[in-house]
Amino acid sequence: MDVIFLGPPGAGKGTQAQILEKAYGLHQLSTGDMLRKNRHEGTELGKIAQAYMDRGDLVPDDIIIAVVEKELENWTGALFDGFPRTVPQAEALDALLHRKNRPYTVILFDVGEDTIHERLTGRWVNPKTGRVFHDRFSPPPDDRIDADGTQLIQREDDKPEAVRHRLEVYHRQTEPLIAYYADARRGRLVKVDATKSVSEVSKDIANALGFRDMAATQ
Ligand code: AP5
Repeated sequence: MDVIFLGPPGAGKGTQAQILEKAYGLHQLSTGDMLRKNRHEGTELGKIAQAYMDRGDLVPDDIIIAVVEKELENWTGALFDGFPRTVPQAEALDALLHRKNRPYTVILFDVGEDTIHERLTGRWVNPKTGRVFHDRFSPPPDDRIDADGTQLIQREDDKPEAVRHRLEVYHRQTEPLIAYYADARRGRLVKVDATKSVSEVSKDIANALGFRDMAATQ
């Protein structure tokens, strides 16, 4: 099964992807986490991506498409978190999945800007694993050290200025994908209310994907 998570920064895509991965074994393919891991390890890709990411700009399409194409070889289904983010990325993914005869469902996270600012300013991240916490909604350990021994960080691009820029970039470059995926010949687009609690959003996504058992137990 292939699932695409579409939505603005801070909508809860990463949080939900990790829950679904654990519950159903879907593989979370997060381009943001992949890039941050490369930065953490000081790879060439990480160095190239750094400036774009800190500013809140998108990494160029050709770089990101090549990364995803390589990663996809390892998986027969994936949960795309943060990809695609532009029409050329969506077209490239369509071509890849079509070649493998893999239909997909798009989950659109619907959330307003006040919620986004609140979520991002309180977020703590494990730069190695991508696990996220929130000061208020999902508190991290007092010493800000995760269970695997990694020091949690606050992302450079979660500073208010960068968040404002990321939202502009989202409206300009990523929002057109809503119209792109509204075309039923491409895939199934389902909108979820992402302002609800983490468990309620999980339940709605599980329902949308036909995972009735999880929806029933939440
Ligand atoms: P990326 O890491 O993908 O960032 P993003 O899409 O902006 O998404 P975020 O990680 O900020 O938010 P999220 O929706 O995952 O929210 P989360 O679950 O953490 O990309 C970063 C950068 O990498 C980009 O700017 C770009 O430079 C580059 N990049 C990545 N992919 C690219 C691509 N395809 N092309 C080009 N460049 C690319 O939740 C946020 C907080 O809220 C957390 O603290 C969480 O605990 C809390 N929370 C979550 N859900 C709830 C809830 N329901 N109720 C209360 N709190 C909640």
